[in-house]
Amino acid sequence: MKVAPSILAADPLNMERDVQRMIDAGTDWLHVDIMDAHFVPNLSFSPALAEALHKRFPGLPLDVHLMMDNPEKYIGVFIDAGASVLTIHAEIDADVAAMLDHIRSRGVKAGLSVKPGTPAESIRHLLPHADMVLVMTVEPGFGGQKFNADMLGKLDDLRQMGYTGLLEADGGVSMGNIAALREHGLDVAVMGTAMFRSADPRADMDAIHAL
Ligand code: DX5
Ligand code: ZN
Repeated sequence: MKVAPSILAADPLNMERDVQRMIDAGTDWLHVDIMDAHFVPNLSFSPALAEALHKRFPGLPLDVHLMMDNPEKYIGVFIDAGASVLTIHAEIDADVAAMLDHIRSRGVKAGLSVKPGTPAESIRHLLPHADMVLVMTVEPGFGGQKFNADMLGKLDDLRQMGYTGLLEADGGVSMGNIAALREHGLDVAVMGTAMFRSADPRADMDAIHAL
């Protein structure tokens, strides 16, 4: 399984140091949460940070999670900034399939995210357009929340619906629930608090990679 530490939990005054620590520990991706204070009640990072991270760490795939009501205005901006994976939410009022197709057409992995209250069945028609489904395991907006174990069933639902692409979980993922997530077919674990506050991220990542 792959790991994508979420920089929402990094020290904003020591971003370079904290990201380097994740690279030294063997990280696969870096998860970058973009919040618009409208789709979610919080603000986070700008395209300038994604671009600066990509310039400083060009070999590190940026997994950009757009928690935004109007991602169409920013898809091109984040692709130009260097995103390798770009995820939008299924709940927005827009032509999500067309946006996913557009992301793919730019050579970037297209991700589709669902909040805890959004059933797998409601995105059945979108699955052929997505390279990855990001299952939120907390209500999006803040780091450090408690993992919702009911979402393990949503991972099963997606596989039972015939979805064979990447599955990613985000929110409250820790060394305590990673094995269960793997058993339910998870491919990529987003970990904010658990990775940036870990005493030994290399040991944790080694254990995750071995799952
Ligand atoms: C929550 C964000 C997450 C967050 C996860 O809305 O999408 O990526 O950083 O943080 P932890 O792992 O601390 O729950
Ligand atoms: Zn996220």
